[in-house]
Amino acid sequence: MAKPSARPAQPAAACRVCGGTVSAFLDLGRQPLSDAFRKPDETAQEFSFPLVVGNCRDCSMTQLLHEVPRERMFHAEYPYRSSGSTTMTAHFTAVAERFLAHELGGADPFIVEIGSNDGVMLRTVAAAGVRHLGVDPSSGVGLTAQHGGVRVRDDFFQESTARDIAATEGRADVIYAANTFCHIPYVDSIFAGIDALLRPDGIFVFEDPYIGDILDRRSFDQIYDEHFYFFSATSVRAMARNFGFELVDVERLEVHGGEVRYTLARPGRRRADARVAALLDAEAHRGLAGPEPYERFAREVYAIREDLRTLLTGLREQGVRVVGYGATAKSATVNNFCGIGPDLVETVYDTTPEKQGRLTPGTHIPVAPMAGFRADPAPYALLYAWNHETEILAKESAFREAGGRWIRYVPEVRVD
Ligand code: SAH
Ligand code: TYD
Ligand code: ZN
Repeated sequence: MAKPSARPAQPAAACRVCGGTVSAFLDLGRQPLSDAFRKPDETAQEFSFPLVVGNCRDCSMTQLLHEVPRERMFHAEYPYRSSGSTTMTAHFTAVAERFLAHELGGADPFIVEIGSNDGVMLRTVAAAGVRHLGVDPSSGVGLTAQHGGVRVRDDFFQESTARDIAATEGRADVIYAANTFCHIPYVDSIFAGIDALLRPDGIFVFEDPYIGDILDRRSFDQIYDEHFYFFSATSVRAMARNFGFELVDVERLEVHGGEVRYTLARPGRRRADARVAALLDAEAHRGLAGPEPYERFAREVYAIREDLRTLLTGLREQGVRVVGYGATAKSATVNNFCGIGPDLVETVYDTTPEKQGRLTPGTHIPVAPMAGFRADPAPYALLYAWNHETEILAKESAFREAGGRWIRYVPEVRVD
């Protein structure tokens, strides 16, 4: 378990967006790759890196101080499947329908998605017969997308990829990225690519976890290797300007524990919605550019760790069984920061075939198919997939009715 010191060992680094100074505010210790589920017989030493997060004093972008090489995270075996949640599937169907209705009605429209994963959004576009291309380096998930009728390029999106697509397929009306742009440290190359690939009136739309919600909900488990940036309207506006784009819309979303969908366009091409100024004002009002909210957050996170460890070790001492629900990437941060292994949580249940039969990264809790959660119920379940709570509580009502209790750790440790 990482030492409970409030002072990150590495206090500062250069901002990946503006080159300014990033001050560290939370050190979550050495962490494994959050989606590297180990085979039980694997013996190789696990890769680990220091998970430290900071905020840029100059452009206000919250970001990691250490970058994990992208090929370690995104490859043929990458296990995350976007369609694993019915709520997210419905969300992305609605996104596609909106693009089809409002942005893709012209002659020969074309949409490119960065991080298309298993095709959860683009399959609706494909079914409508509209020209599209998904770009994703994780070829296993890409294959699933292709089976769903989606065209995928097995590649990292960056300037060279974008230029090549523009040369062979023409420019795009919409470039979209969900839960992916925040994974990409090299924003200069991304913006150069967007500039090369986007039509003059086109839009770049991306949605990612919102730093305002992370601070409010104390969702420290949103911080892991893949989540490099934690956007705000303030930091996104500065970044967009820096690379010749304008922030023209922001929409708050409830998915994944609170996100914002940002729309960028070339300057003067689209009228900025009043929501942009409103969110910028709200962020200024709560002091998001300064250090206080981040320092408070760090104190709250250390308190959560104490409370969660006290609860779990107390249950273990009483011989009470605890299981985990959802082998999320987020849970790697919780388990490794709080020192939670199979002694405290005996099994984590998950619907993803690629995770089942494996061990969670770092602390090696066995991952088992969801059927076991119902067949062999434990009295307590730690809800790692808290962002899917509505969906999960609805289908698992029998657990509570039989006397089972859910453990939450955000925004505080709670049993009910
Ligand atoms: N859009 C989906 C998937 C999010 S997971 C959703 O919201 O559920 C992030 C995805 O981004 C992974 O499939 C990963 O392979 C992909 N990815 C990571 N870096 C990328 C890059 N540089 N270009 C394109 N895709 C990338
Ligand atoms: P998610 O919270 O979407 O993302 P991340 O891995 O980025 O933190 O992951 C949800 C995980 O929980 C995924 O492995 C699938 C699993 N899951 C279930 O097992 N049952 C469910 O009902 C849902 C919604 C998810
Ligand atoms: Zn900066």
